Amino acid sequence: MPSGRLSVVVTRRLPDVVETRLKELFDVQLRDDDTPMTREELVAALQEADILVPTLNDRLDASVIAQAGDKLRLIANYGAGVDHIDVATARQRGIQVTNTPGVLTEDTADMTMALILAVTRRIPEGLALIESGQWKGWSPTALLGGRVSGRRLGILGMGRIGQAVARRANAFGMQVHYHNRRRLREETEDALQTTYWESLDQMVARMDVLSINCPHTPSTFHLMNARRLKLMKPSAVIVNTSRGEVIDENALTRMLKAGELAGAGLDVYEHGSETNADLRSLTNVVMLPHMGSATVEGRVEMGEKVIINIKTFADGHRPPDLVLQTLD
Ligand code: DGY
Repeated sequence: MPSGRLSVVVTRRLPDVVETRLKELFDVQLRDDDTPMTREELVAALQEADILVPTLNDRLDASVIAQAGDKLRLIANYGAGVDHIDVATARQRGIQVTNTPGVLTEDTADMTMALILAVTRRIPEGLALIESGQWKGWSPTALLGGRVSGRRLGILGMGRIGQAVARRANAFGMQVHYHNRRRLREETEDALQTTYWESLDQMVARMDVLSINCPHTPSTFHLMNARRLKLMKPSAVIVNTSRGEVIDENALTRMLKAGELAGAGLDVYEHGSETNADLRSLTNVVMLPHMGSATVEGRVEMGEKVIINIKTFADGHRPPDLVLQTLD
């Protein structure tokens, strides 16, 4: 790395404590307003920085990376998912990529459980009734949801977050099942009290709740396509705290509208913040604005990881969270 203070460009506002530490350590250019950079701003940042700190809002595709300046050596992503970065192209150009895994696991798993409960127990409908002032008191038949205890939960993607969801679901008395590219070790399966399904189709057809916890990669794009969604029981619900692209959102919307699926709890969408109006209008769908990892603690720890990755890299060592390849 060049001697002297490294020039670091950060593309979004970060928590104060993280920005302060970045300023102490590096020649850092911070973002004043909390909006994503335009493509032009992103290219300019790539041209002037030694190190870029992007977030999931910054699409660093091959054509953007091709315009990076010769100085750029590290893309230290503030976030775990790297599906917005063409990692292969970056590495071909000698630019390393790091991310922030691990520190948002528990928060995202909490939000997955929150969505499971919100959909099955109809929490937003209850809130709306209170807020409207229309609640007339307790009733034996009003707002009846489904009991989560005893239900079969299928976890699609049993990495860190999937396993954290499994631990929580066990505590709620759910029967935990999973599908993953690689089967877990027997001891891990036993500890998580979980059953492996080699066939995703077969698992999907038998679950009461399906939780999407796999990353978005070329091979998981629309993994839950129309055909597979139709395998689900009409009484089942689907929850997604991973990436919207894993589900064919149009197919999901059609099925929810037609009553072919009981409900959905979504924190992420196929087209980012451009959410589907039909989906928004459905009472059996709970939609959150990608806030699965949005805790004060998580966001600060993500920043700490970014700083450790940059410092380690600058000191000539392999950063702890080096992304070696995009998963296919
Ligand atoms: C990530 O880090 O990729 C998360 O989706 C942010 O919430």
